Amino acid sequence: MEKQLSALEEKKALARLGGGQKRIEKQHAKGKLTARERIELLLDEGSFEELDMLVRHRSTDFGLDKQKFYADGVVTGYGNINGRLIYVFSQDFTVFGGSLSETHAEKICKVMDLAMQNGAPLIGLNDSGGARIQEGVVSLGGYADIFHKNVMASGVIPQISLIMGPCAGGAVYSPAMTDFVMMVDQTSYMFVTGPNVVKTVTHEEVTSEELGGAQTHASKSGVTHFACENEVDCINQLKNLLSYIPQNCEEQAPVYPYTLKENERRESLTNVIPGNPNQPYDMREVITGICDEDSFMEVHKDFAENILVGFVKIGGRSVGVVANQPAMLAGVLDINSSRKGARFVRFCDAFNVPLLVLVDVPGFLPGTDQEWNGIISNGAKLLYAFSEATVPKVTVITRKAYGGAYDVMNSKHIGADLNFAWPTAEIAVMGAKGAAEIIFKKEIAEADDPEAKLEEKVAEYTEKFANPYRAAERGFIDKVIHPAETRMKLISGFKMLENKVLNLPKKKHGNIPL
Ligand code: HXC
Repeated sequence: MEKQLSALEEKKALARLGGGQKRIEKQHAKGKLTARERIELLLDEGSFEELDMLVRHRSTDFGLDKQKFYADGVVTGYGNINGRLIYVFSQDFTVFGGSLSETHAEKICKVMDLAMQNGAPLIGLNDSGGARIQEGVVSLGGYADIFHKNVMASGVIPQISLIMGPCAGGAVYSPAMTDFVMMVDQTSYMFVTGPNVVKTVTHEEVTSEELGGAQTHASKSGVTHFACENEVDCINQLKNLLSYIPQNCEEQAPVYPYTLKENERRESLTNVIPGNPNQPYDMREVITGICDEDSFMEVHKDFAENILVGFVKIGGRSVGVVANQPAMLAGVLDINSSRKGARFVRFCDAFNVPLLVLVDVPGFLPGTDQEWNGIISNGAKLLYAFSEATVPKVTVITRKAYGGAYDVMNSKHIGADLNFAWPTAEIAVMGAKGAAEIIFKKEIAEADDPEAKLEEKVAEYTEKFANPYRAAERGFIDKVIHPAETRMKLISGFKMLENKVLNLPKKKHGNIPL
């Protein structure tokens, strides 16, 4: 027995060494951790159970029969994060650059199947040179197997991708289909074609970092939801993210114990809205004023900053927030903010996270750029996502809710359960000045003092429409509330809605305007 046990230990020790000490040192020299070090940081101590540690590739071409490494470039298995089960794969760059072989793909597929069948999140730590070049189409088949499983798992279990090294070519499409992408600044990149191909085809000179680094995808493309300072930060942010979401689509979003305080009023909210309706303010102040202390985890922070999305806890309850941001482009809806909002709403709805929508929106962004690039079909994504969502949906209009954007931003008409407005709300077809200029055009032009006339008509329109009361008269607004009471109203509102049941009409699937 001793002999067999030491033979086993020898194999396990070899597997733990991946591509060998030299390559591990090279990995460290780049400021990167190894696949196993990352798993150690990720999981609760002692909870990792590795699978397929002794798998090796079956290739013989190009001398591969003489280069065999246990685990074949990916460490897979399951373990706990804060006591909750997760499945994980972690690509090992020290073995053939973490490239994906047939067996490497099979290992990933195995944990994906387990994650789906057992209803727990799948976390992928990506660090790979792409398809194992020596294996050719077999490797491409392996990728496609993973892509297909990503799609099957979508909406069933949360899938989260951490990009901790290269991720190029078709390989980017697996993370792209997962729910959240997190990238590490400076040491990770994602692109379909690298700088050399770009130079040949378009004659653009660009570095890997500029083309597909964390900052680029966090701010320009929106491909990544989080740009993290380093690997440790990335893993910590992932753990925080998991605390807001359930294990699978059958479970409810987490609710943490919370004892109501004697006074849940937030007087600071009374002074957030500036006296001048055209003056910006930071909607983050409203979010942090409403939610439990330090509970706001912003998603897609640097992308389409005219809308804010993220998770909060309200009275211990996990809630997804979508909010116009008047501090950026006056909070207008454009293509990117609509896409950003819609994707987040669909995640929350898929995983039973209730939605809170904060509205201060002057409308959709005008211009040829927006029209020619499809503000119509992109704006429709947000409208569709809100309309389709069956989770508890609560809206608070803080100031402007103009035109079509009023309808889109989780209005009563598209299925919101509770619609609140602050007394500063202006629910109208457009701003008072624009409206007065159109409907009183002739009267103003013919007046002795057109400016005074315009002012008079603006005041008239404001009095009539730039307030929440017309909407409240119709029941489109359930309640006009004091800003300081907002948190209390939300705590009780989400509690009231916790058993909401709403089923969509039977269908194969809808046809969201993609
Ligand atoms: C096999 C690979 C590999 C690959 C790297 N290696 N990529 N082996 N298949 N795709 C090996 C190297 O031979 C080397 O082996 C080790 O990994 C580390 O690679 P280095 O080049 O020394 O590392 P570095 O300088 O950091 O460069 C990393 C890299 C580069 C930028 C990723 O290796 C690279 O460009 N690789 C090729 C990337 C690529 O074109 N992949 C195919 C993309 S197409 P030793 O033995 O020296 O340690 C694709 C299609 C997917 O992936 C389609 C899905 C539908």
